[in-house]
Amino acid sequence: MTPDARKRLLDGLGLVDWRMRPDRLAAAPTAPADHAPALREPAPPATDPQPDVAPAASSAGEPAAAATAPDHDTQTVAPNPSVDAPAPAAAQAPAEPAAPAQASDVSRMDWDELEAWLATRDHRGASRPVFGIGARDADVLIVGEAPGANEDAQGVPFVGRAGKLLDRMLFAIGCSRDTNVYITNICKFRPPNNRDPNADEVAADWPVLERQIELMDPKLVVAVGRVAAQTLLDSTQSLGKLRGTLHRYPRRELDVLVTYHPAFLLRSPGQKAKAWADLKQIARRIASA
Ligand code: URA
Repeated sequence: MTPDARKRLLDGLGLVDWRMRPDRLAAAPTAPADHAPALREPAPPATDPQPDVAPAASSAGEPAAAATAPDHDTQTVAPNPSVDAPAPAAAQAPAEPAAPAQASDVSRMDWDELEAWLATRDHRGASRPVFGIGARDADVLIVGEAPGANEDAQGVPFVGRAGKLLDRMLFAIGCSRDTNVYITNICKFRPPNNRDPNADEVAADWPVLERQIELMDPKLVVAVGRVAAQTLLDSTQSLGKLRGTLHRYPRRELDVLVTYHPAFLLRSPGQKAKAWADLKQIARRIASA
């Protein structure tokens, strides 16, 4: 890895290169400041006066739920509704001339139809849907869990403090939502009271994510956090067990890599070295795509 690439990677994670420690340099580089509030907090304050919350206790070196802003990295989520479901209609139907998409025929919608259809769905108490952002033709799809307060306010995924860290992590491996990744969530509406999405919510939004994956046809999905990982892989395994290996997305020629949720990393900076290892693996997989 070139020195520049190493520096970008470390900066992205907010880590300091050991070769540039203060005892070696007058001033060590620091990561850009975070100004947005923590992830999935009840309401978005204008600034975040709190430093990163101390890491929650972990029994197996894995993320544990924090008291006020759960990172959703320890419990089990509803199974991936696609696994037991019949294959998508498009895969089963005989080849026919394309007809205009019906209102609920999600599997035939284009991006704009899908986004417009999502907006007609029950918002489940959220202010607005958070459909996704980024390059729709990118090779890499980032999937988080669900919008938080900031995302609900802006209609854009990962815009809070955790989103800023996610952007820096992506930048470290040459990726950006402006150019070469698409970012979305398992759930498209903010769950009430910042709780984990429940099985009904996951199931309600699942067709939209599936269609996004079909339309995008990425080479790699990066699941950030336990909820995204367990849902996408239809697994009940812990995030600690799921990260570190390349998974195959059920029913598709598609690789899935799992990494920590940036909100968890903000609370548990000690885990950033593992996140860095994940990022390097993601970079290698992208390079080989
Ligand atoms: N956390 C997520 O999982 N998704 C968002 O969009 C924001 C925070």
